[in-house]
Amino acid sequence: MSLSGYNFVVLTIFSIFLTQAYGLPDVEPIDDVQPEETLRIHNEIRAAVGVAPLVWNETVADYAQNFADEQAEAGVCSYDQMRHSDGPYGENIAAGWVQPTDQMSGPIATKYWLTEKPNYDHETNQCKDTCGHYTQIVANQSTALGCGSFRCHDNELIYIVCDYYPMPLGDANTRPY
Ligand SMILES: *[C@@H]1O[C@H](CO)[C@@H](O)[C@H](O)[C@H]1NC(C)=O
Ligand SMILES: *[C@@H]1O[C@H](CO)[C@@H](O)[C@H](O)[C@H]1NC(C)=O
Repeated sequence: MSLSGYNFVVLTIFSIFLTQAYGLPDVEPIDDVQPEETLRIHNEIRAAVGVAPLVWNETVADYAQNFADEQAEAGVCSYDQMRHSDGPYGENIAAGWVQPTDQMSGPIATKYWLTEKPNYDHETNQCKDTCGHYTQIVANQSTALGCGSFRCHDNELIYIVCDYYPMPLGDANTRPY
């Protein structure tokens, strides 16, 4: 998979050079979110472990887009400034640079979160390293999805925010499926 850390870094450096040379036009958030494809990939990932599909929810999507807009207005523009909205939903966030392939978007963010799947052991319900983005995707307590996005660095850094309703609740013994 070309989402491995190494390729990402190589392509990132390449794209910074390119985009600084030519500049980038404004992009509508929805074009980075790609709702249909983002939902389709979520549901493919859920089906693979026998979990019912999510539906796209405009209320949830508006919430995610509002949070994204707030972050943009606040000038959030680096990986270490990424934070959660701490709202009523489950939430996954990803960011990545504009680049020639695998450019950050709703679908690419979803595939990136999926790379955590091998970290999750369903038998023990334990996670090595990070698996919370993956377990949110497959959480059977969530039935609806909505995502938003914003760009910064002259449209070169793309943030994707996906929110999940209802937020999965429980303790360490609660399984996503
Ligand atoms: C959409 O989200 C809203 C707010 O979270 C919720 O009240 C509503 O029931 C959801 N609709 C569907 C079809 O999931
Ligand atoms: C969700 O998964 C849990 C754990 O396997 C299970 O007990 C529960 O019945 C599932 N809920 C739904 C709605 O499938």
